[in-house]
Amino acid sequence: MEPKGKVAVITGGASGIGRATAQRLAVAGARIVVADLDESMGSDTVKLIESVGGTATFVKADVTDSNDTQRMLDTAIAKFGRLDILYNNAGIAVGSPPFPVGELRRWRRVLDIDLQAVILGTYLAAPMMERQGGGVIVSTASMAGLYPYKEDPVYAAAKAGVVNFTFSLAPWAARLNIRVNCVCPGVVDTPLVRKGIDAARRAGERASLPARIIAPTEIAEAVLTLIVDDSLAGRALEVRPAGRRLVEAPAAPGSRR
Ligand SMILES: NC(=O)c1ccc[n+]([C@@H]2O[C@H](COP(=O)([O-])OP(=O)(O)OC[C@H]3O[C@@H](n4cnc5c(N)ncnc54)[C@H](O)[C@@H]3O)[C@@H](O)[C@H]2O)c1
Repeated sequence: MEPKGKVAVITGGASGIGRATAQRLAVAGARIVVADLDESMGSDTVKLIESVGGTATFVKADVTDSNDTQRMLDTAIAKFGRLDILYNNAGIAVGSPPFPVGELRRWRRVLDIDLQAVILGTYLAAPMMERQGGGVIVSTASMAGLYPYKEDPVYAAAKAGVVNFTFSLAPWAARLNIRVNCVCPGVVDTPLVRKGIDAARRAGERASLPARIIAPTEIAEAVLTLIVDDSLAGRALEVRPAGRRLVEAPAAPGSRR
């Protein structure tokens, strides 16, 4: 799908990867609904887009709340007349102290935002896209969803859930002309990572940024690829500093492919 003239809703669009992708899609000619809990940073994303001639609006939404999520999607129709692209990107990590230390509600919140909200957003957007003849859904998983990640097992489980949700949902979505893919970044230079390192250091742990870190703009380019390339569905695009790798769903036991 060519983004020019299309309408994209981007969750977690106030910061990091979401902001970079909002800016990239706007430059490609899409109109953007920036959705986030953070009103001030979200409005800044809108200003950044408008400052280079793009079109965007902000909606304050908690992606774990179904009313907020519906309102966020309805904003696309109300403001711009369509909904073509949903980027399920908002996310948090459990951080320090890691599971199983710490309060129950901390890791439940991670599952709510990083996995359940991806399912919720997709569930609510799919019928809207179907009425319009199709669409594209991209979700932010992580390399932590493809490989064991001992630093944060609950985050890893949530992201693995996003990867397999993508693999498993794609054939159904394809019947509605909706392409569903996910991006699996390695370590990206965003406030999420920097805050995590600061918190770990405060807790007396040794933590530092890796020598080669990915820029948010590189993930934005990967998301753009998943939107533009109409051959891609049910894939996970792994992004490392060294390059990209497209991961296909493994065949289910007994199935012929
Ligand atoms: N930074 C990395 O190294 C990295 C690597 C792999 C995957 N990811 C994933 O990328 C996504 C974006 O992360 P980032 O690194 O840009 O982090 P970030 O902290 O810079 O941005 C995340 C945004 O999500 C918003 N958000 C959090 N909870 C929300 C909620 N309930 N409703 C609405 N908005 C909410 C935050 O306010 C923030 O603006 C996340 O899903 C994260 O897990 C990040």
